[in-house]
Amino acid sequence: MLLPKVARYFSRVDSTNAALLQALTDGEALPSGAVYLTDEQTAGRGQGSNGWHATPGDNLTLSVLCRPDHLSVDRVFSLTEAAALAVAATVRRFLAPARRGEVTVKWPNDVYVGDRKVAGILIQNGLRGNQVQWAVVGIGLNVNEVDFPPEIEDNATSLRQLTGGEVEREMALSALFTELTEWFAYLEEGRQAELRRHYLDALYRRGQLRTFRRLPQGEAFPATITGVDPAGRLLLTHADGTTEAFAQRSLQYLQAAPGG
Ligand code: BTN
Repeated sequence: MLLPKVARYFSRVDSTNAALLQALTDGEALPSGAVYLTDEQTAGRGQGSNGWHATPGDNLTLSVLCRPDHLSVDRVFSLTEAAALAVAATVRRFLAPARRGEVTVKWPNDVYVGDRKVAGILIQNGLRGNQVQWAVVGIGLNVNEVDFPPEIEDNATSLRQLTGGEVEREMALSALFTELTEWFAYLEEGRQAELRRHYLDALYRRGQLRTFRRLPQGEAFPATITGVDPAGRLLLTHADGTTEAFAQRSLQYLQAAPGG
């Protein structure tokens, strides 16, 4: 998938994911690698019921169409891995070498620098039988954002805040296309096991004893992230040595270390 195959730019749109999904619903023959991008989303979508905030003109908000070749539904998580690793690698390119190790992927697909989120990804799939027919990979990368809503300002960052200077969005976009092309090649070449290894290496807080909460509104408990299962569920190992798998949106990460 060489990117972008076809690019459609909107000065303003409700959501690039929604616009691309609509084009597919309308039967537009869009190829794998088609990109919809905009300067301003009026109804940017985030994970679950969340929205996505981005000051118009400051950031990258785009969606990429992927038509994976013979990807079975039980391997759909590899799309998440490829997309998250591509965005993480893009962010690393803009950081000083000493800080690149701070870039991680918070399961399933938030890109973090230290304890702050710099990018989010929303993937929406179309299935046919047990095959993934298409995936719309929506990416929001905070490039020059400095004005985060109060509810996320302690937890968010941008390339500008990380580097101390304005970053050219064109440069970030071109780096992102290069990385997406590179990481999606793992899927095309059947290198899923390698992709999984890279994903685990990049996983935020892996191997650290931390506090989590079961959702909705369950108890807090200490555990260590030890991996991700083939279905993409996060594996946590408890103090008694048992390992439990958590599906998306069934777990909250708490800030404090146990006892902290
Ligand atoms: C998240 O972390 O909650 C996912 C955020 C995904 C945001 C991007 S911005 C471009 C694309 N269009 C959308 O409406 N959402 C995604």
